[in-house]
Amino acid sequence: MHPLAPIISILILGLRSASQEAPGAATTAPSTETAAPSTETIVTVPISQYSFSAFPLPSQTPVAGVSPLSDPREPPPVGSSLIPDFAHAWAGAYQEAKNKIANFTLDEKVSVGTGVGWMAGRCVGNTPPIGVNGSKFPGLCLEDSPLGIRFADFVTAFPTGINTAATWNRKLIRRRGLFMGREHVGKGVNVALGPMMNIGRVAQGGRNWEGFGADPFLAGEAAYETILGMQEGGVQACAKHLINNEQEHFRTQESSDVDDRTQHEIYAHPFLRSIMAGVASIMCSYNLINGTYACENDKIMNDIIKREFGFQGYIMSDWAATHSTISVITGLDMTMPGDITFQSGTTYFGANLTAYVQNNTIPAARLDDLATRIIAGWYFVHQDAGDYPTTNFDAFNPANEETNEHVDVQEDHYKVVREIGAASTVLLKNTNGALPLKKPRSIVLVGSDAGPGKVGPNEFADQGGVDGILAMGWGSGTANFTYLISPLEAIQRRARDDRTSVSWILDDFDTDRAGNMAIGRSAALVFISSDSGEDYITVDGNEGDRKNLTAWHSGDDLVQAVAAQNNNTIVVVHSVGPLILEPWIDHPNVTAVLWAGVPGQEAGNSITDVLYGDWNPSGRLPYTIAKQASDYSAHLILGGQPTDILSIPYTEGLNVDYRYFDAFNITPRFEFGFGLSYTNFTYNKLHIAEVGGQASTDADLEESWAAGNATPIAQGSSTAIWLHRPLYNVTFEVENTGPVWGGDIPQLYLNMPPSAGEPPSILKGFTNVEILPGDKKTVGITLSRYDLSFWDTVAQGWRRPNGTIGVTIGTSSRDARLKGNITIA
Ligand code: BGC
Repeated sequence: MHPLAPIISILILGLRSASQEAPGAATTAPSTETAAPSTETIVTVPISQYSFSAFPLPSQTPVAGVSPLSDPREPPPVGSSLIPDFAHAWAGAYQEAKNKIANFTLDEKVSVGTGVGWMAGRCVGNTPPIGVNGSKFPGLCLEDSPLGIRFADFVTAFPTGINTAATWNRKLIRRRGLFMGREHVGKGVNVALGPMMNIGRVAQGGRNWEGFGADPFLAGEAAYETILGMQEGGVQACAKHLINNEQEHFRTQESSDVDDRTQHEIYAHPFLRSIMAGVASIMCSYNLINGTYACENDKIMNDIIKREFGFQGYIMSDWAATHSTISVITGLDMTMPGDITFQSGTTYFGANLTAYVQNNTIPAARLDDLATRIIAGWYFVHQDAGDYPTTNFDAFNPANEETNEHVDVQEDHYKVVREIGAASTVLLKNTNGALPLKKPRSIVLVGSDAGPGKVGPNEFADQGGVDGILAMGWGSGTANFTYLISPLEAIQRRARDDRTSVSWILDDFDTDRAGNMAIGRSAALVFISSDSGEDYITVDGNEGDRKNLTAWHSGDDLVQAVAAQNNNTIVVVHSVGPLILEPWIDHPNVTAVLWAGVPGQEAGNSITDVLYGDWNPSGRLPYTIAKQASDYSAHLILGGQPTDILSIPYTEGLNVDYRYFDAFNITPRFEFGFGLSYTNFTYNKLHIAEVGGQASTDADLEESWAAGNATPIAQGSSTAIWLHRPLYNVTFEVENTGPVWGGDIPQLYLNMPPSAGEPPSILKGFTNVEILPGDKKTVGITLSRYDLSFWDTVAQGWRRPNGTIGVTIGTSSRDARLKGNITIA
């Protein structure tokens, strides 16, 4: 039997009962509409009341030379090349945390890092109040998810991580983070369990949609902006899952075996960017890395995260991922949800940790460090302010009116959901001027993904449902939908204005009828989907990871049946990740394809905005769409015996996703970074110049780097800012040569000299620009020493390559438009 089987089944039970008590209770109870209203209070509280100016800055003596942008409430403006230096803010938070724990007993310090146990508090994770009624410290509420608030009402179901990444738009990514942060604060959450930044190494990976795609640079930028936004909003963010949790099968008993260079350049990079954004907490993952469990992995937690990257916050375990008390020595600061197996009443921390400190197995100073780190995270984002909301929902007892205050935190966040939904939609094909739609006379919508599900969107535990518009995957990375707009609803509203005749068939399997209904329509819109999630729920035979890369519900047959009858067949794909499109992509009657991902509660409005040209598509693929599944560089490793540790060798090394296709000359169907527009852009006047005039206190390190030495990595308590500061400014002109206004995402790839041992082309920059037809704009992308380095495993430092570095500006990873060079003297 799976060693964690009891835990997993309890988890499922826990989640099911939570969900049954919530919406389920309402459906099974007799219809008592007249009795309900007296208790149905919704409290609307302007969230802004809890943020920004309400929190006074801690009184500190300013440190000379430290950027004033060092407070998480005041992050650098989006797109600025300023690097936030949070050292000063952390120093202040540490001082306050140290003062606070000075009068804590040994047991109290232990309690700071010991969760109260599964379902023993209001949130999915809780630490206990310290002192009488929390007089010394109120304890923490930790709540999922990376796209909003799980198990709570009157919240926004934001777009998924993968859609957020597909915008390649830092402003939108930051804003989503800010609004999610504010919603968590409004519900009285201290720590929001996101963002998720595991890499989409395996196309079938069940949780890929929670994260930011298959490229470390893109994922790093998305993590950075999300965290800056969330913590500006006042909640502590949690970067997860540290590290190499890239498939669901056997996630608690697989060892991801990754070499040091690949670890640094691919998988650890988003965590580095998170730390640069000042992330307060990190979650270690279920799996092992190179044979050692993540949550007791000294190399990862202590060496890389705390020493090399200078992480000041705390590391919590994933839920029941702690394996020992001694993990405290190897870097673990908090055990979640606290019990060894759910509701076992046992814990590796608690009395065990106290005993280990008493008998000097774990130094008292390490316990102080752990408690300081956790409480410093709380001070760092100013949750010590007296009016920080107390938790006002009850994750596992949503029907309890005593503990659920129904605080409405949604404000007008639906607007950014709708905008990101549109901005993340990727136009893959557009022939015969099929899109945008121009007041078509008649349309038919085909497929269950076009409409609402047969039951409401919260009726399946953690969103593990099978029909209706797909707006998020399943598992802990979800939120309740307060509402969910389907394409059918949104398009009908539009049809009223356009006087378009609309029909629909939402049965995926009645292909004959779908084909017949397509005959004679101005356009036939076929909606297909593909879902995945976390391993504790199996949907349609998919145990978290996807069984295959084909559309669910015979979606390919549906497209072909419709395309056989209508020469203006437009396909919309809602999918958690890549699908193989070969069965129909070249069909001449398939005139357009829109890739809409999993876009959150405004799914229908977002796709309608793109279909009708209210939003000119600017989304770009955050992963490669291959011609066949076997073309990808990495695959699920299945099988394994219940008592085994399954080995997952990351043998492709740096050649993840497009890097592999490039290295081995495999032609994809649609490459990483690809996306069409309703207009055209041309690029001109590439100029690469060194950024001058920067006074530096680290001139010796900079010179050493330029001389070709690997840099020392131990930077003490802060990120090596000199390594990340802009060194080159790459500018060029983008012109809109097409007929309509549009946004473009120019991308910068480096082509390292062969001696560096890098894949042919690696993403190191992007920007977004919006231009009127006929206009041009000059845009700039900066490159740091870090961007221009590779990880030298022998010297354990970042080293520039010898020779000339190619700089390619393109519209995707394969569409180069401008080329230049950098030679570091
Ligand atoms: C997931 C985490 C999540 C936690 C709490 C775990 O199963 O891996 O991402 O935050 O549960 O729900």
